[in-house]
Amino acid sequence: MILGISGSPRPNGVTAHAVRKVLAACDGATEYISLAGKHIGGCISCLACTKDNICAVNDDFPAIAEKMVQAEAIIFGIPNYYDLPNGLSHCLLERCFCFRHQSAFLLKDKPAVILSTGYAADEENSQVLKVVENFIVKNNMKTVSKFLIGAYSQCYSCKYGRTCVDGNIFKDNGIVDEVTPEMLPAKFNEQPDAIAKCENAAQLLNKMLS
Ligand SMILES: Cc1cc2nc3c(=O)[nH]c(=O)nc-3n(C[C@H](O)[C@H](O)[C@H](O)COP(=O)(O)O)c2cc1C
Repeated sequence: MILGISGSPRPNGVTAHAVRKVLAACDGATEYISLAGKHIGGCISCLACTKDNICAVNDDFPAIAEKMVQAEAIIFGIPNYYDLPNGLSHCLLERCFCFRHQSAFLLKDKPAVILSTGYAADEENSQVLKVVENFIVKNNMKTVSKFLIGAYSQCYSCKYGRTCVDGNIFKDNGIVDEVTPEMLPAKFNEQPDAIAKCENAAQLLNKMLS
């Protein structure tokens, strides 16, 4: 089974679409988990997991952890918040500390796809991709593909964006009388390059797992 995890708190946003697009192009069984609405706190460093590699904190993480361990490969969909993984995704990554004790490394050798959604487009210098890749390395997983997907900017729907000189509408268009459809950031399905990246990642996974 190939597991796709969308770390966005928005259940049907760009991250969800991108992760599902990778899964749709994967051979064999897949499962999809959205972290939207899930309660996952950060690691509390209780060290209970050091004896059995099972997280003892009772929230939505342990059920996801089981799926992660069962999966043959994992797709991580991580929104960019302040050039870092968003809090929900970061909590999930932290909690994977439980897999590493006494040389267990329960995620060892699993192929991983990392996609990060956001407004920023500098793939080479993406801090989000770097942070998640560091997590992959520390869990002895293997990165198969890592890339950015263009995403929604809150400024275009916050009601005050048109007159806000600190926001993305001003940055992209200057002062405008109204926000017209062609100014809006592209939705996932309007980005052929993003779709191609997702399908390409799935093909790499298929090859690796065949
Ligand atoms: C609190 C917050 C901070 C954000 N910071 C950034 C940022 O620094 N860079 C960026 O490119 N996008 C930033 N964004 C935009 C998100 O990356 C974008 O809304 C998200 O990837 C959309 O994914 P979704 O549609 O799956 O929710 C931010 C959004 C929020 C809510």
